[in-house]
Amino acid sequence: MRKPFVAGNWKMNTDTHTSVNLARRVASDSSELVGHNITVAVFPPFVYLHSVAQAVSASNIAVGAQDVYFEPKGAFTGEISASMLKDIGCIYTLCGHSERRHVIGETDELINKKVAASISGGLLPILCVGELLSERDASKTEEVVTRQLKNGLAGLSTEKVSAVTIAYEPVWAIGTGRTATSQQAQEVHDIVRKLLAEMYDSELAEETRILYGGSVTPGNSAELMSQPDVDGLLVGGASLNADDFLAIIRSAA
Ligand code: PGA
Repeated sequence: MRKPFVAGNWKMNTDTHTSVNLARRVASDSSELVGHNITVAVFPPFVYLHSVAQAVSASNIAVGAQDVYFEPKGAFTGEISASMLKDIGCIYTLCGHSERRHVIGETDELINKKVAASISGGLLPILCVGELLSERDASKTEEVVTRQLKNGLAGLSTEKVSAVTIAYEPVWAIGTGRTATSQQAQEVHDIVRKLLAEMYDSELAEETRILYGGSVTPGNSAELMSQPDVDGLLVGGASLNADDFLAIIRSAA
């Protein structure tokens, strides 16, 4: 049984005060669900990670970083290592989020190094994959997602990949208000799970959680979660509103 997983990606939002308040509110109001029935994690900006991690340390909600660098330490100005993240209480990392691929220009090769470094550093990476609208329109969704998954996990053993969560986030659905239908999500999640079985084994494929992301709201979360291969949700905009995020958590639990 795959435990549902709801993750809130705050992106470049919040401040000292709102980050801690939002995390506290989510932790306290979801305390009866989190742990047993569902995994919940929030992904604040780097500068607020430490205070958020401290604010929720007595709760069951986890904290993750929106990015990580693959080198352990040294002359890499501006970058943050897995061991630093672990040191301040992070559990998860996001690797290959579409904004990092398409706004910052990260490649599959760099993302693969970040996934590997997260695992070696004792963190649990969420590898994000997803096609552009032009790729969907050209019927290239399967090809793109297959390439991103194979390259993102290249060189990793089955044991290492068991630390990984996959997030399918069609780029055209992120921050646009245009959610994939639950059938569109299910179709791609099924492709991802079959691919994991092919690349590793059926046990790993059955155990790996595959999240959907892209304009998830309290209004569509239950329908998305009703699909057999949708194991959780990666929520952007709606995770900045405690009531909305809590409603999504409840619908997924
Ligand atoms: P959104 O973002 O929910 O605002 O569409 C999702 C994401 O980018 O993870």
